[in-house]
Amino acid sequence: MNVSAPAKKRLLTGDRPTGPLHLGHLVGTLHNRVRMQDQHDCWLIVADLHSLTTRSRREQIGELPELVHEVVLDLLSVGIDPEKSTIYLQSGVPAVYDLAILLQMLIPVNRLRGIPTIRDMARNAGLKDDEVPLGLLGYPVLQAADILMARAEVVPVGGDNEAHVAIAVELAEHFNELYGPVFPIPQAMVSSTPTLPGVNTIDDGSLRKMSKSAGNSIRLKDSAEEVARKVRTLAGPAAGVSPEELDASPLFAFVDAFLTDKAAASALKYDYMRGKTKADAVHEAITADLEILLKPIRERRAELMADPGRIEEIVVDGTIRAREVAYQTLNQVRDAMGLEPLWSGLVAATQRRAEARNRPY
Ligand code: TRP
Repeated sequence: MNVSAPAKKRLLTGDRPTGPLHLGHLVGTLHNRVRMQDQHDCWLIVADLHSLTTRSRREQIGELPELVHEVVLDLLSVGIDPEKSTIYLQSGVPAVYDLAILLQMLIPVNRLRGIPTIRDMARNAGLKDDEVPLGLLGYPVLQAADILMARAEVVPVGGDNEAHVAIAVELAEHFNELYGPVFPIPQAMVSSTPTLPGVNTIDDGSLRKMSKSAGNSIRLKDSAEEVARKVRTLAGPAAGVSPEELDASPLFAFVDAFLTDKAAASALKYDYMRGKTKADAVHEAITADLEILLKPIRERRAELMADPGRIEEIVVDGTIRAREVAYQTLNQVRDAMGLEPLWSGLVAATQRRAEARNRPY
């Protein structure tokens, strides 16, 4: 009888190293990653090549060591365990570049032109239509190369990346059809958490999602004082609003996301609508529960920072593991496509000729 546990499915997800992670990441994906690392062979990519699609200047590349360090520190501080999860640096796995080139042969340019995220990323980076680099158009193909080289079966992503995983599925199916069954078909797992709005809504009145670039985030590394100050910038809806308007407000989105005592949260809403509770009291309640959530994260961060070089060691370990798998996959791909036989045929013929003339090549 076979009593060994069934092999864990490989999961791949990750981030571009463009700045510190924040509360939106925590509720949108980080908690889920920590939860899933027990039942999956969890791989987390630090996608620095993807950040080159819009940040390829020398100074921007010069910032990468610090940015990579930051994002890995964030991952570990929330409870990603390097014993369970493989954290790796994308640009340290050159086989992925090769795979991306081969996958590019299998997808029409117009399929990529139709993907809205590419236009959004170009706009956010201030690029005009005729300035979009080929690499940005190919963003989803590179992401497909990440997914397929890792032979990942589960790919948790935010809604904006769903279209990219769809490209990976199409490429895997198309490749397998043309050259034989090499790739497992990956499956996107789209986050169902509502998007967290940003702070500073008193100043700009906006209802924008929390994001690194919008300057409206509460970062995981913020001090307790910074968190409290930022929470106070969440505008309260006018008294007498309807329950729907209340729920749609940034202030109460935070109540829903972070108050652990759901009965207390309902009572707070009820009192607020009747003008019995003011925004100040809601801010205080949010800050108190956020502190319970963020304090252990801050403490783990401090421990990790007390061991210089530890972060880099974890990334090197993970990247070495990723490189091994990537080269295996690339070899299978080159075999299936007939490229490896092409090269080894040339080498064999050269050897035969050398033997025939009795002089080594
Ligand atoms: N595109 C992802 C982002 O939005 C990062 C990423 C790169 C990724 N390769 C991946 C995510 C592979 C999941 C799987 O930052």
